Amino acid sequence: MDLLTKITEVRSGLDVHRAEGRTVGLVPTMGYLHAGHASLMTAAVGDNDITIASIFVNPLQFGEGEDLDSYPRDLDRDLEICRAEGIDMVFAPSVEEMYPRPVDTVVTVPTVSAPLEGVARPYHFSGVATVVAKLFSIVGPCRAYFGAKDWQQLAVIRRMAVDLSMPVEVVDCPIVREPDGLALSSRNFYLTADERAQAPVIRRALDLGIELVVDGETNPKVIESAMATKVATAPLGELDYAAAVPAETLVADSVLAGEVRLLLAVRFGKARLIDNDGAFIREV
Ligand code: PAF
Repeated sequence: MDLLTKITEVRSGLDVHRAEGRTVGLVPTMGYLHAGHASLMTAAVGDNDITIASIFVNPLQFGEGEDLDSYPRDLDRDLEICRAEGIDMVFAPSVEEMYPRPVDTVVTVPTVSAPLEGVARPYHFSGVATVVAKLFSIVGPCRAYFGAKDWQQLAVIRRMAVDLSMPVEVVDCPIVREPDGLALSSRNFYLTADERAQAPVIRRALDLGIELVVDGETNPKVIESAMATKVATAPLGELDYAAAVPAETLVADSVLAGEVRLLLAVRFGKARLIDNDGAFIREV
């Protein structure tokens, strides 16, 4: 496995493989890898001849007062996980390599970015879209793998790739969960033992919402309020949002139909956790 820190090394390394007709898979990450990332790597390694993982804590997607400085980092452990997963190349650039000058060119996907996460973190998706566009430009034609836990991020990246005709197939992979239902996230690291014990309420609230959708509830307010009431049973959790929205646009509608996505953001102490699940409203 090659550890690369320079953009030129990635380009020249992948050029050699492409010249020999090999397909390329990309797994973009911010490091502190867990089984969720490993599942993206397993999929990418299975689908492609060569797989590259990037490890870069992207300052552009953190706002003031967020956890950029304290975001957990452990490159040696990450490299072991990449090696065990069969990754061929790891790209772990410095901030100076990715952003040698103050950034002037940014990518925004305003409609998909505005609701939900975009309300609390208005700058966030522009930072994500910009760094992912750079990674796509550095890596070139490839399949790129993202987890469904960040559903809105996935929607932003898909839209960007289509709108800008990027030569990238965006592949989404299922959420990986702890046995008690908590979605894996690098931010789970912040949870105290008591917060960790209560955090699975998020999965239970989603289950309740899914039950309502499957039973034919089309009023998003009813579903959202049921999920919020469930989250309130965990005294250490503070609800940021509970949403029941059309799966593709994520824009709130007064009556739900077709594919619905349920999304939750809940704070437990220092950790702001997000999770989601989907279901179809049955046609009658
Ligand atoms: O999901 C993440 O880890 C990040 O948002 C991503 C896609 C690697 C961009 O920095």
